[in-house]
Amino acid sequence: MAKFIHLTDVHVVGEGKTMYGSDPAKRLAGAVESINAEQSDAEFAVIGGDLTHWGGPEEYEAVKKAVSGLTIPLVLMVGNHDAVPELRRHFPDAFDDGNGFVQGVWRTDAGKCLFLQTLQEGVHSGHYCEKRQAWLKAQLDADDEPVFLFMHHPPFEVGIAGMDGSRMLDSEALWSILEPHRARIRHLFFGHIHRPIFGSWRGVPVSCMRSTNQQLALDLRDETENPDIRRVPGNMEEPAYGVVLADRDTVIVHMHEYRRRTPEFLFIPPPDQREGRGYAHDMKLEGFEG
Ligand SMILES: [Fe+2]
Repeated sequence: MAKFIHLTDVHVVGEGKTMYGSDPAKRLAGAVESINAEQSDAEFAVIGGDLTHWGGPEEYEAVKKAVSGLTIPLVLMVGNHDAVPELRRHFPDAFDDGNGFVQGVWRTDAGKCLFLQTLQEGVHSGHYCEKRQAWLKAQLDADDEPVFLFMHHPPFEVGIAGMDGSRMLDSEALWSILEPHRARIRHLFFGHIHRPIFGSWRGVPVSCMRSTNQQLALDLRDETENPDIRRVPGNMEEPAYGVVLADRDTVIVHMHEYRRRTPEFLFIPPPDQREGRGYAHDMKLEGFEG
C-alpha cells in the first residue's frame, strides 16, 4: 500500500505576514508538524502549487523555513502564484523536465506519480504547451505502470464561475495524450480551487484539497455582470491536507483537517467507561455546542 500526502495552495506571504487575517507560513508549519506526528509513514508529501502568493524571494524563504522540519520527502509543484526562477533559487532540487518546467516522476508500488506544470507565468489560467505535452507523452509511453496525475489547475470546470475561467485551458490537447492510456490513469489530483472537490473527468477520478490558508466558499451562483471582474467568494473554513492510500485495486483520498479543532471522542468507549447500555452517546463534549 502506497501512502502519500496531498497539500496544495499554501500561499505563503513571508514570515509573520498574514493574509485574510491568518499567517500562511504558520499554517504550513502546522501541517508539517501534523504530518510528522501522524503521517510519518507516508512516502512523500507534495505541495500542488501556489507555494507563495506573490512569487517573491522573502516568500520562498518563508516556505523553506516552514517545511524545513518535514521528516518525509517533499515534492514541490508550481501554480499561478509562483515564479519558477525564484523557486529554483531557494529549492535547487525542484523537478526539472529538461526544458526548465517543474515536472517530474515519483515511483510507488501502486504506480507512478506524474507531476505536471500548468503554470504559464504572467497569467492566472493554466496552460500546457507542446514541450510539456511531449514530456507527458514520453512518460506515458515509457511503460505500462498505473499513473497518478498531479496538476495545479483542473482541466475542467467545477461550477464556480469566478474560478472556471482560470482552469487549465489546453484540456483537449491534454486529453488527446491521456486518452490512449485512459485505462491505467488511476486518479488526477488538482488544486487551485481551495475547496474539497471529488468527482471524475471523462471517467478519470479527480480530487482537490482545501488550501492551508484562505478557502473558496461554496457559492455556485453566477452573479457576474462584468466577466473581467469575477466575484470569487471566500471563507476561512479549516485548513486541510489529503492523505492518499493506494494499491493496485484502490485509491482512497482522506481529507484531514489537521488542526483537529473539534472535540474528539471514542465512538465506542472502553468497558470501564461505559454507562447504562454501554455506549455513552449522550456524553457532554466540553466547550462544544452542536
Ligand atoms: Fe491558490
